[in-house]
Amino acid sequence: MDALQEKVLKLKRKKRAIILAHNYQIPQVQDIADFTGDSLELSKISRNLKEETIVFCGVKFMAETAKILSPRKKVLLPVLDAGCPLADMITPVDLIELKKQYPKAWVVSYVNSSAEIKALSDVCCTSANAVTVVKNVPVKQVIFVPDKNLGWWVAKNLPDKEIILWPGFCLVHEYFTIEDLLKTRKAYPQAQILVHPECRREILEAADSVLSTAGMLKEVKSSGKSEFVIGTEEGMIYRLKQDNPQKIFYSLGSPKVCINMKKTTLDDVYRSLEGEKYNIEIDPAIIEKASLALERMVSYI
Ligand code: 13P
Ligand code: SF4
Repeated sequence: MDALQEKVLKLKRKKRAIILAHNYQIPQVQDIADFTGDSLELSKISRNLKEETIVFCGVKFMAETAKILSPRKKVLLPVLDAGCPLADMITPVDLIELKKQYPKAWVVSYVNSSAEIKALSDVCCTSANAVTVVKNVPVKQVIFVPDKNLGWWVAKNLPDKEIILWPGFCLVHEYFTIEDLLKTRKAYPQAQILVHPECRREILEAADSVLSTAGMLKEVKSSGKSEFVIGTEEGMIYRLKQDNPQKIFYSLGSPKVCINMKKTTLDDVYRSLEGEKYNIEIDPAIIEKASLALERMVSYI
Protein backbone atom coordinates (compact mmCIF):
# COMPACT_ATOMS: atom_id res chain seq x y z
CA MET A 1 0.00 0.00 0.00
CA ASP A 2 1.46 3.42 -0.93
CA ALA A 3 1.57 6.59 1.20
CA LEU A 4 -1.49 8.20 -0.41
CA GLN A 5 -3.59 5.07 0.02
CA GLU A 6 -2.63 5.00 3.71
CA LYS A 7 -3.47 8.71 4.06
CA VAL A 8 -6.93 8.11 2.53
CA LEU A 9 -7.64 5.19 4.86
CA LYS A 10 -6.52 7.17 7.92
CA LEU A 11 -8.79 10.08 7.02
CA LYS A 12 -11.65 7.70 6.27
CA ARG A 13 -11.36 6.23 9.80
CA LYS A 14 -11.17 9.70 11.36
CA LYS A 15 -14.30 10.79 9.49
CA ARG A 16 -16.06 7.47 10.23
CA ALA A 17 -16.82 7.12 6.54
CA ILE A 18 -17.18 4.14 4.24
CA ILE A 19 -15.85 4.00 0.69
CA LEU A 20 -17.94 2.23 -1.95
CA ALA A 21 -16.60 1.70 -5.47
CA HIS A 22 -18.04 0.41 -8.72
CA ASN A 23 -16.27 -2.45 -10.52
CA TYR A 24 -15.12 -0.06 -13.30
CA GLN A 25 -13.13 2.24 -10.98
CA ILE A 26 -9.36 2.52 -11.42
CA PRO A 27 -7.30 -0.15 -9.55
CA GLN A 28 -5.93 2.29 -6.91
CA VAL A 29 -9.48 3.23 -5.93
CA GLN A 30 -10.78 -0.36 -5.99
CA ASP A 31 -7.87 -1.31 -3.72
CA ILE A 32 -8.83 1.10 -0.90
CA ALA A 33 -12.62 0.66 -1.15
CA ASP A 34 -14.49 -1.08 1.68
CA PHE A 35 -16.71 -2.66 -0.92
CA THR A 36 -16.52 -2.92 -4.71
CA GLY A 37 -19.51 -4.16 -6.67
CA ASP A 38 -22.17 -3.72 -9.34
CA SER A 39 -25.04 -1.22 -9.17
CA LEU A 40 -27.36 -3.66 -7.40
CA GLU A 41 -24.85 -4.68 -4.72
CA LEU A 42 -23.88 -1.07 -4.10
CA SER A 43 -27.53 -0.01 -3.83
CA LYS A 44 -28.34 -2.80 -1.41
CA ILE A 45 -25.28 -2.10 0.73
CA SER A 46 -26.03 1.60 1.01
CA ARG A 47 -29.39 0.83 2.65
CA ASN A 48 -27.88 -0.75 5.76
CA LEU A 49 -24.73 1.11 6.71
CA LYS A 50 -23.74 2.18 10.20
CA GLU A 51 -21.38 4.89 8.92
CA GLU A 52 -22.87 8.38 8.54
CA THR A 53 -20.79 9.29 5.48
CA ILE A 54 -20.59 7.36 2.22
CA VAL A 55 -17.89 8.24 -0.31
CA PHE A 56 -19.24 6.90 -3.58
CA CYS A 57 -16.57 6.21 -6.20
CA GLY A 58 -18.61 5.77 -9.33
CA VAL A 59 -20.87 8.02 -11.39
CA LYS A 60 -23.55 10.47 -10.31
CA PHE A 61 -26.63 8.26 -10.69
CA MET A 62 -25.01 5.70 -8.36
CA ALA A 63 -24.34 8.27 -5.64
CA GLU A 64 -27.89 9.61 -6.09
CA THR A 65 -29.28 6.09 -5.68
CA ALA A 66 -27.37 5.71 -2.40
CA LYS A 67 -28.77 9.07 -1.23
CA ILE A 68 -32.34 8.08 -2.16
CA LEU A 69 -31.99 4.84 -0.22
CA SER A 70 -30.25 6.48 2.76
CA PRO A 71 -31.51 10.08 2.76
CA ARG A 72 -30.21 10.90 6.25
CA LYS A 73 -26.63 9.96 5.36
CA LYS A 74 -24.05 12.23 3.81
CA VAL A 75 -23.28 10.85 0.34
CA LEU A 76 -20.17 12.27 -1.30
CA LEU A 77 -19.28 12.01 -5.00
CA PRO A 78 -15.53 12.80 -5.30
CA VAL A 79 -15.79 14.18 -8.87
CA LEU A 80 -18.83 16.33 -9.53
CA ASP A 81 -18.90 15.84 -13.30
CA ALA A 82 -18.56 12.05 -13.24
CA GLY A 83 -21.84 11.47 -15.05
CA CYS A 84 -23.36 8.75 -17.19
CA PRO A 85 -24.33 9.83 -20.73
CA LEU A 86 -26.85 6.95 -20.87
CA ALA A 87 -28.68 8.34 -17.83
CA ASP A 88 -28.90 11.73 -19.58
CA MET A 89 -30.55 10.25 -22.68
CA ILE A 90 -34.06 10.66 -21.30
CA THR A 91 -35.55 13.74 -19.62
CA PRO A 92 -38.58 13.94 -17.30
CA VAL A 93 -40.51 15.69 -20.13
CA ASP A 94 -39.78 12.76 -22.48
CA LEU A 95 -41.02 10.27 -19.91
CA ILE A 96 -44.17 12.25 -19.06
CA GLU A 97 -45.01 12.27 -22.82
CA LEU A 98 -44.42 8.54 -23.07
CA LYS A 99 -46.63 7.87 -20.05
CA LYS A 100 -49.41 9.89 -21.73
CA GLN A 101 -49.06 7.75 -24.87
CA TYR A 102 -49.27 4.49 -22.88
CA PRO A 103 -51.41 5.30 -19.84
CA LYS A 104 -51.90 1.66 -18.82
CA ALA A 105 -48.23 0.73 -18.95
CA TRP A 106 -45.94 0.51 -15.93
CA VAL A 107 -42.65 2.38 -16.12
CA VAL A 108 -39.52 0.36 -15.34
CA SER A 109 -36.43 2.52 -15.21
CA TYR A 110 -32.90 1.17 -15.36
CA VAL A 111 -30.99 2.47 -12.36
CA ASN A 112 -28.72 4.31 -14.85
CA SER A 113 -31.16 7.24 -14.81
CA SER A 114 -31.60 10.52 -12.95
CA ALA A 115 -33.42 10.80 -9.59
CA GLU A 116 -36.26 12.63 -11.42
CA ILE A 117 -36.73 9.71 -13.84
CA LYS A 118 -36.79 7.26 -10.92
CA ALA A 119 -39.42 9.42 -9.24
CA LEU A 120 -41.62 9.12 -12.35
CA SER A 121 -41.20 5.32 -12.45
CA ASP A 122 -43.20 2.49 -10.93
CA VAL A 123 -40.14 0.36 -10.31
CA CYS A 124 -36.39 0.47 -10.95
CA CYS A 125 -34.09 -2.31 -12.05
CA THR A 126 -30.39 -2.94 -12.57
CA SER A 127 -28.64 -5.05 -15.18
CA ALA A 128 -28.54 -7.90 -12.63
CA ASN A 129 -32.30 -8.09 -12.07
CA ALA A 130 -34.05 -6.43 -15.06
CA VAL A 131 -35.67 -9.66 -16.31
CA THR A 132 -36.90 -10.65 -12.83
CA VAL A 133 -38.24 -7.17 -12.10
CA VAL A 134 -40.20 -6.89 -15.37
CA LYS A 135 -41.51 -10.45 -14.93
CA ASN A 136 -42.99 -9.37 -11.59
CA VAL A 137 -44.68 -6.24 -12.93
CA PRO A 138 -48.44 -6.94 -12.63
CA VAL A 139 -49.38 -5.62 -16.10
CA LYS A 140 -48.50 -6.76 -19.64
CA GLN A 141 -47.40 -3.41 -21.05
CA VAL A 142 -44.11 -1.97 -19.78
CA ILE A 143 -42.28 1.24 -20.71
CA PHE A 144 -38.58 0.43 -20.30
CA VAL A 145 -36.14 3.37 -20.10
CA PRO A 146 -33.52 4.48 -20.98
CA ASP A 147 -31.37 1.58 -22.33
CA LYS A 148 -32.69 0.03 -25.55
CA ASN A 149 -30.29 -2.94 -25.45
CA LEU A 150 -31.10 -4.03 -21.90
CA GLY A 151 -34.79 -3.43 -22.71
CA TRP A 152 -34.49 -5.63 -25.80
CA TRP A 153 -32.83 -8.37 -23.71
CA VAL A 154 -35.71 -8.21 -21.24
CA ALA A 155 -38.27 -8.43 -24.08
CA LYS A 156 -36.47 -11.41 -25.60
CA ASN A 157 -36.59 -13.24 -22.25
CA LEU A 158 -40.20 -12.32 -21.51
CA PRO A 159 -42.20 -12.86 -24.73
CA ASP A 160 -45.51 -12.50 -22.84
CA LYS A 161 -44.76 -8.85 -21.99
CA GLU A 162 -45.17 -5.93 -24.35
CA ILE A 163 -42.09 -3.76 -23.89
CA ILE A 164 -41.98 -0.18 -25.13
CA LEU A 165 -38.34 0.76 -25.64
CA TRP A 166 -36.61 4.14 -25.42
CA PRO A 167 -33.67 4.67 -27.82
CA GLY A 168 -30.99 5.29 -25.13
CA PHE A 169 -27.67 3.43 -25.14
CA CYS A 170 -24.29 3.34 -23.45
CA LEU A 171 -21.59 4.94 -25.61
CA VAL A 172 -18.98 2.56 -24.21
CA HIS A 173 -20.82 -0.73 -24.80
CA GLU A 174 -22.14 0.43 -28.18
CA TYR A 175 -18.57 0.23 -29.52
CA PHE A 176 -18.39 -3.55 -29.22
CA THR A 177 -19.18 -5.04 -32.63
CA ILE A 178 -20.30 -8.46 -33.79
CA GLU A 179 -17.07 -8.60 -35.85
CA ASP A 180 -15.13 -8.22 -32.56
CA LEU A 181 -17.07 -11.12 -31.14
CA LEU A 182 -16.62 -13.40 -34.15
CA LYS A 183 -12.89 -12.66 -34.38
CA THR A 184 -12.41 -13.29 -30.65
CA ARG A 185 -14.39 -16.53 -30.81
CA LYS A 186 -12.09 -17.71 -33.61
CA ALA A 187 -8.92 -16.65 -31.77
CA TYR A 188 -9.96 -18.24 -28.43
CA PRO A 189 -12.43 -21.04 -29.23
CA GLN A 190 -11.91 -22.55 -25.77
CA ALA A 191 -12.95 -19.35 -23.94
CA GLN A 192 -16.41 -18.49 -22.55
CA ILE A 193 -17.73 -15.14 -23.84
CA LEU A 194 -19.40 -12.99 -21.17
CA VAL A 195 -21.04 -9.72 -22.18
CA HIS A 196 -22.91 -6.94 -20.40
CA PRO A 197 -26.58 -6.42 -21.43
CA GLU A 198 -25.80 -2.83 -22.50
CA CYS A 199 -24.06 -4.31 -25.59
CA ARG A 200 -25.82 -4.29 -28.98
CA ARG A 201 -28.52 -6.93 -29.43
CA GLU A 202 -26.58 -9.01 -32.02
CA ILE A 203 -23.81 -9.36 -29.43
CA LEU A 204 -26.27 -10.40 -26.72
CA GLU A 205 -27.57 -13.11 -29.05
CA ALA A 206 -24.13 -14.43 -29.99
CA ALA A 207 -22.46 -14.41 -26.53
CA ASP A 208 -22.34 -17.40 -24.16
CA SER A 209 -23.61 -15.43 -21.15
CA VAL A 210 -25.24 -12.01 -20.67
CA LEU A 211 -24.47 -10.74 -17.17
CA SER A 212 -24.13 -7.71 -14.91
CA THR A 213 -20.61 -6.99 -13.69
CA ALA A 214 -21.22 -8.85 -10.40
CA GLY A 215 -22.85 -11.65 -12.42
CA MET A 216 -19.59 -11.98 -14.37
CA LEU A 217 -17.62 -12.39 -11.14
CA LYS A 218 -19.95 -15.14 -9.95
CA GLU A 219 -19.94 -16.90 -13.31
CA VAL A 220 -16.13 -16.90 -13.60
CA LYS A 221 -15.81 -18.29 -10.08
CA SER A 222 -18.21 -21.16 -10.68
CA SER A 223 -17.44 -21.92 -14.36
CA GLY A 224 -15.32 -24.98 -15.21
CA LYS A 225 -13.61 -22.90 -17.93
CA SER A 226 -10.25 -21.26 -17.36
CA GLU A 227 -10.35 -18.64 -20.16
CA PHE A 228 -12.91 -15.87 -20.63
CA VAL A 229 -13.60 -13.12 -23.14
CA ILE A 230 -15.09 -10.06 -21.42
CA GLY A 231 -17.45 -7.69 -23.22
CA THR A 232 -17.72 -4.77 -20.85
CA GLU A 233 -15.71 -1.80 -19.55
CA GLU A 234 -12.03 -2.63 -19.11
CA GLY A 235 -11.93 -1.99 -15.32
CA MET A 236 -13.84 -5.23 -14.90
CA ILE A 237 -10.85 -7.25 -16.06
CA TYR A 238 -8.77 -5.90 -13.15
CA ARG A 239 -11.51 -7.00 -10.72
CA LEU A 240 -11.79 -10.44 -12.36
CA LYS A 241 -8.01 -10.98 -12.27
CA GLN A 242 -7.82 -9.98 -8.60
CA ASP A 243 -10.44 -12.56 -7.67
CA ASN A 244 -9.26 -15.28 -10.09
CA PRO A 245 -5.47 -15.01 -10.51
CA GLN A 246 -5.26 -18.48 -12.05
CA LYS A 247 -7.75 -17.72 -14.85
CA ILE A 248 -7.10 -15.90 -18.15
CA PHE A 249 -9.10 -12.95 -19.47
CA TYR A 250 -9.25 -11.33 -22.90
CA SER A 251 -11.07 -8.14 -23.94
CA LEU A 252 -13.78 -8.47 -26.57
CA GLY A 253 -12.06 -6.55 -29.39
CA SER A 254 -10.05 -3.52 -28.28
CA PRO A 255 -10.39 -2.50 -24.59
CA LYS A 256 -13.30 -0.08 -24.00
CA VAL A 257 -13.06 2.62 -21.35
CA CYS A 258 -15.77 4.68 -19.63
CA ILE A 259 -14.07 8.05 -19.17
CA ASN A 260 -16.56 9.05 -16.48
CA MET A 261 -15.75 6.01 -14.37
CA LYS A 262 -12.03 6.80 -14.70
CA LYS A 263 -12.31 10.42 -13.54
CA THR A 264 -12.02 9.55 -9.84
CA THR A 265 -8.41 9.40 -8.65
CA LEU A 266 -7.13 8.54 -5.19
CA ASP A 267 -6.33 12.21 -4.72
CA ASP A 268 -9.98 13.06 -5.46
CA VAL A 269 -11.09 10.55 -2.83
CA TYR A 270 -8.78 12.20 -0.28
CA ARG A 271 -10.04 15.69 -1.12
CA SER A 272 -13.62 14.46 -1.03
CA LEU A 273 -13.18 13.17 2.52
CA GLU A 274 -11.22 16.23 3.62
CA GLY A 275 -13.66 18.83 2.27
CA GLU A 276 -16.79 16.63 2.60
CA LYS A 277 -17.60 17.16 -1.05
CA TYR A 278 -19.43 16.86 -3.31
CA ASN A 279 -22.44 16.40 -1.12
CA ILE A 280 -25.36 14.88 -3.06
CA GLU A 281 -28.55 16.82 -2.47
CA ILE A 282 -31.93 15.83 -3.88
CA ASP A 283 -35.34 17.45 -3.42
CA PRO A 284 -37.11 15.50 -0.60
CA ALA A 285 -40.26 15.13 -2.75
CA ILE A 286 -38.17 13.43 -5.46
CA ILE A 287 -36.48 11.24 -2.85
CA GLU A 288 -39.84 10.12 -1.52
CA LYS A 289 -41.16 9.04 -4.94
CA ALA A 290 -37.89 7.61 -6.23
CA SER A 291 -37.40 5.54 -3.07
CA LEU A 292 -40.76 3.85 -3.69
CA ALA A 293 -39.53 2.68 -7.12
CA LEU A 294 -36.20 1.50 -5.69
CA GLU A 295 -37.75 -0.25 -2.68
CA ARG A 296 -40.24 -1.96 -4.99
CA MET A 297 -37.28 -3.26 -7.00
CA VAL A 298 -35.78 -4.75 -3.85
CA SER A 299 -39.12 -6.36 -2.94
CA TYR A 300 -39.36 -7.99 -6.40
CA ILE A 301 -36.00 -9.80 -6.31
P1 13P B 1 -23.53 -3.06 -13.45
O1 13P B 1 -24.68 -2.75 -12.56
O2 13P B 1 -23.67 -4.35 -14.19
O3 13P B 1 -22.23 -2.97 -12.72
O4 13P B 1 -23.50 -1.97 -14.62
C1 13P B 1 -23.41 -0.60 -14.40
C2 13P B 1 -23.01 0.13 -15.60
O5 13P B 1 -22.99 1.32 -15.61
C3 13P B 1 -22.67 -0.63 -16.78
O6 13P B 1 -22.21 0.21 -17.77
FE1 SF4 C 1 -22.83 4.97 -18.06
FE2 SF4 C 1 -21.88 3.36 -19.95
FE3 SF4 C 1 -20.19 4.48 -18.22
FE4 SF4 C 1 -21.88 2.53 -17.44
S1 SF4 C 1 -20.17 2.36 -18.89
S2 SF4 C 1 -21.46 4.47 -16.36
S3 SF4 C 1 -23.66 3.01 -18.70
S4 SF4 C 1 -21.46 5.54 -19.73
